Amino acid sequence: MKNVFITRKIDEKVISRLSEQFNVDFWPHEDQVCPREELLKQAKRCNALLTMLSDQVNAELLDQGGDDLEIVANLAVGYDNIEVEEAKKRGVMITNTPDVLTDTTADLAFSLLMASARRIVESDRYIKDGNWKSWSPYLLAGKDIHHKTLGIVGMGNIGQAVAQRAKGFDMDILYHTRSRKKEAEEKYNAKHAELDELLTKSDFVLCLAPLTEQTKGMLGSEQFKKMKKSAILINAGRGPVVDEEALIEALKNGEIAGAGLDVFDKEPIDKDHPLLSLANVVAVPHIGSASVETRFAMMDLCAENIINVLSGKDPVTPVK
Ligand code: DGY
Repeated sequence: MKNVFITRKIDEKVISRLSEQFNVDFWPHEDQVCPREELLKQAKRCNALLTMLSDQVNAELLDQGGDDLEIVANLAVGYDNIEVEEAKKRGVMITNTPDVLTDTTADLAFSLLMASARRIVESDRYIKDGNWKSWSPYLLAGKDIHHKTLGIVGMGNIGQAVAQRAKGFDMDILYHTRSRKKEAEEKYNAKHAELDELLTKSDFVLCLAPLTEQTKGMLGSEQFKKMKKSAILINAGRGPVVDEEALIEALKNGEIAGAGLDVFDKEPIDKDHPLLSLANVVAVPHIGSASVETRFAMMDLCAENIINVLSGKDPVTPVK
């Protein structure tokens, strides 16, 4: 029997599905990263690894896997934790979990936009802290969302699902991405824009760009200066695409009005990180795809990819 290692405790049903055909072992904690030594040890004896985005799949790990390691199935659509070229060189298949998480992640991105614009988190704290003394005309007044301009940076499937939601709010949609998306332009009346134009015109800049050499730090001090002072930045892609130091400065200096963040440079972010002390920041712990239904679908898709590859078939969602 072939060996499979899962780097977290995942849904029992998915473990059972894999166990019908393989020897399955897993790191027995849901909320703890599998220690590196354990992962390296498991890579040495396994034919498949089911990894999280917090696991570094690099040359060192792939070398431990040697000839026996056939597939690394990553429980995420993003795969910046994986050295894909190194895997390719060694003939190890890499798979991710696109499509099944598109709507859920778009829901979260749009929720962050709404929570930031309408000061939902501040309002919750205000009322629970016993500060509500009277109804007042400008009490916790936020910004309108409807009929405003949304600039989407990174118009893949999730970006387009966000555009669909924004259309329901009668928003004007600009997008910036490497290649034009003619279908999205027609469907959502979205207009392609250069980054500078998008930054200057948008009331909300929503970043979903994947992390690559080209996108790292692409939203920094220069870009924040181009944004409207009333604008809000939402990042639901990858933390390092935004220069965090520059973001803190922009928020403190009033260059932009607020930020809604699902992702950070370092995850988990430190409790005393300056970003978390700012009232105009809504922060959530990388929960873009975290609905029970979607996380199950992602786990199940990883299992399907593993089953396919270990039985000599093509995976459903290979990283190309
Ligand atoms: C992904 O799948 O890449 C998401 O960031 C996880 O929520």
